[in-house]
Amino acid sequence: MSKVPQPVELLSAQRIAERLQTLAQQINRFYQGKEILLVSILDGAIIFTADLLRLLKVPTQLDCLRISSYGNSTTPETTPQITGSLKSDLKGKHVLLVDDILDTGNTMKQATEKVIALHPDTVRTCVFLDKPDNRTNGFEADWVGFSIPNEFVVGYGLDYAGRYRELPYLAKIKSS
Ligand code: IMP
Ligand code: MG
Repeated sequence: MSKVPQPVELLSAQRIAERLQTLAQQINRFYQGKEILLVSILDGAIIFTADLLRLLKVPTQLDCLRISSYGNSTTPETTPQITGSLKSDLKGKHVLLVDDILDTGNTMKQATEKVIALHPDTVRTCVFLDKPDNRTNGFEADWVGFSIPNEFVVGYGLDYAGRYRELPYLAKIKSS
């Protein structure tokens, strides 16, 4: 029988919840008096989006982009594939692009370019995690939950070959 790698906790659910409060306060302040169109990058950002969305105090609409960068591996494909499109008209909107993790930066760069081409008023970016050591294109997010070292992580929406998204905490995986 093949061994399932065991998750080892890096960030507890409580620590994540506390950090999200601060992040949401900053975002609420920034967008005061405006409306947000939050564009979530599926699948990985689904949990982060759901938690962040419920802490926002400015009116927020939701749309989703589906982008896939990893097959069943832990190494990103250089060109992420956009496989789902936006339903909203972005003209005049304040778009907040939300992703689970900024790694090489390819996904966010491509998503940002796609959004900008649809002529919103403004575009800002927010990621739950940042692995700055692995960046290949200099992309910086406007808001970052946690900066982490360059190791593969799972949980809180992030997967390894489709698994572990349901963990309420962030973990690294080690083979048992
Ligand atoms: P990038 O295009 O290299 O910046 O990678 C971003 C995407 O790769 C994220 O949206 C994640 O879906 C995925 N990803 C990058 N690092 C990890 C990781 O450590 N665990 C799980 N998914 C990751
Ligand atoms: Mg992703």
